[in-house]
This record gives sequence, C-alpha cells and structure tokens, in this order.
Amino acid sequence: MSLPSLPSLPSLPPEADTPTVLDCLEANGAAIIENAIDPGTVRKLTGEVMPFIDRTPMGGDDFSGKLTQRTGALVARSATCRDMVMHPLVLQAARAFLAPFTEKILLHLTQTIYINPGSERQTLHRDRLAWGTHIPSSIEPQFNTLWALTDFTTDNGATRFVPGSHKWDWERRAAPDEIMQAQMPAGSVLIYTGSILHGGGANTSATPRLGLNLTYTLGWLRQEENQYLSCPPHIAKNLEPEMQELLGYTQGNYALGYYSDPEAAISRSDILPPESALGRKPRKGLAALTPGNITEP
Ligand SMILES: [Fe+2]
Repeated sequence: MSLPSLPSLPSLPPEADTPTVLDCLEANGAAIIENAIDPGTVRKLTGEVMPFIDRTPMGGDDFSGKLTQRTGALVARSATCRDMVMHPLVLQAARAFLAPFTEKILLHLTQTIYINPGSERQTLHRDRLAWGTHIPSSIEPQFNTLWALTDFTTDNGATRFVPGSHKWDWERRAAPDEIMQAQMPAGSVLIYTGSILHGGGANTSATPRLGLNLTYTLGWLRQEENQYLSCPPHIAKNLEPEMQELLGYTQGNYALGYYSDPEAAISRSDILPPESALGRKPRKGLAALTPGNITEP
C-alpha cells in the first residue's frame, strides 16, 4: 500500500524558462524559483526598505496582522525594488500568464511583509477576491511574486499554500492535510496565481520574516495599490518608460485611461495620453489608440 503524497510545490532553478513556470502555475497554482537573486542583491534590497519598515505601524486587523508591518510605495522608495519588478523571467512570465485576458499588464501591488515574532497565521484566501466575486473563474486576473529576503521556514511564517486549489470551486475548504508551507532560502521567489488559496504563516521563531510582495494584474482592472498616488507623476517621470507603463502611465486600450488637464490653456486636444503627464509621448506600437476593434452592433 502506498502512502498518500504530502502536498508540495515545484521547486525550479534560477535558469527556469517561462513555459516551465506557466506549466507549474497551470498544474499547481504556484512554484518556487530557488536562489533567483544573489545574497548581495538581497542585502542591498533589505537595506533600502528597512528604514521604511522601521517607521511602519503594525497591521490594524487580524487579516493584515497585528504584529505584521506592511510597507508600500516601493517603486518610489527603492531602486532595487524596481529591478525586482522588472526581473526578466518574472516579467516575461507575468506578461505571458496574463496575455489571454488583456492587451497590457499593470503593477498591482508593491509591499514588504515583515512578520514579527508572535504573529498569528493569516486566514487562507484568494488574492483575486480584491475584486469580489465579479470576475468569472475563466479569467485569471493576477500574477503574484513573493521574494524571500530572509529564509522562509515553517517556524518564522513561511506562506501556507493549498497546491491545486486554484482549480477548486470557491466554496471548497482546505483540509489540514492539503495545506503546506512554502519553505525557501533568502533570494528565492515564490510565484503564484491570484486564484490559489494561501495565507501568511505564524511566526513562532525569535526573528522576523521579511518578504517582498510584487504582483501584476490586467490592464483593465483597478490596482490593489493606487500607483498614481504611491508613485505620482513628479517621481514617475524619472523612471524607465516600461516601468512607467507598468504603473499605469499609458492607456490600457483605445478608450481606457486618458485624461484631461484641468488647468491647461486651450490646446489642440483635451484628450491626453497619460504619458503627457510625464513629459513624453506614448512609445510607438504601444499606444493602443486606434478604435479598430470597435464596431457597430
Ligand atoms: Fe494574499
């Protein structure tokens, strides 16, 4: 008689390619890429974000964690965090995963999660519930990363996951033997869909657990973190064009995301692409400014 296998997530090497990542997401809902960044990058990133974490209060409720500090605006605050957002494999996989549902993708959230000793475990949840249950299950609206900036262990709050639950009916509850913890060394990245059941683990150790949560969504959905306020135009104008576009400073489609300047003198057009607020024009081929797919019913 064979014993039932324990739930687990695939562990991939740093040189894994996008099709392999997508296969893992389809089969399991999540995967770990071990040692995706080197220790020097982990130290640099940690040094950039800790001053902001130090002045962040604990969460205000059990879900955000009353002994957990969540700190955002990381595109504006941390140059190395921007490198993580633009990590070639992650960004390529995010674009490929979300491509069936959108023309463009957006940065959804930047947040360090600092789980202090004594933190209780977080309720299992699906991140896509940020939009309620309005999006049909046939649409995957979210691609998530959680970068380990300390080792993630069973004792210090490694994230709990229910492998395969991205395909479950939303009412189904996980049995204890269907839940695992995503242990990984610092420098690894956990990739997971917005549909998989997961939650932060309890920290019963003596040291904090630090993760960097960077997530991506469809170009036509509202972002969890309001990137126009967390990274306003006077900061965003100094960033790379692709980073600006991920924040949302580009139109999602022909009639999606333009603006009018309320203080402008009369000009040639009152309908402006977001790039105008950063002092540039849309990049060629990315403007999505033609009404070609709009036809009379
Ligand atoms: Fe979550």
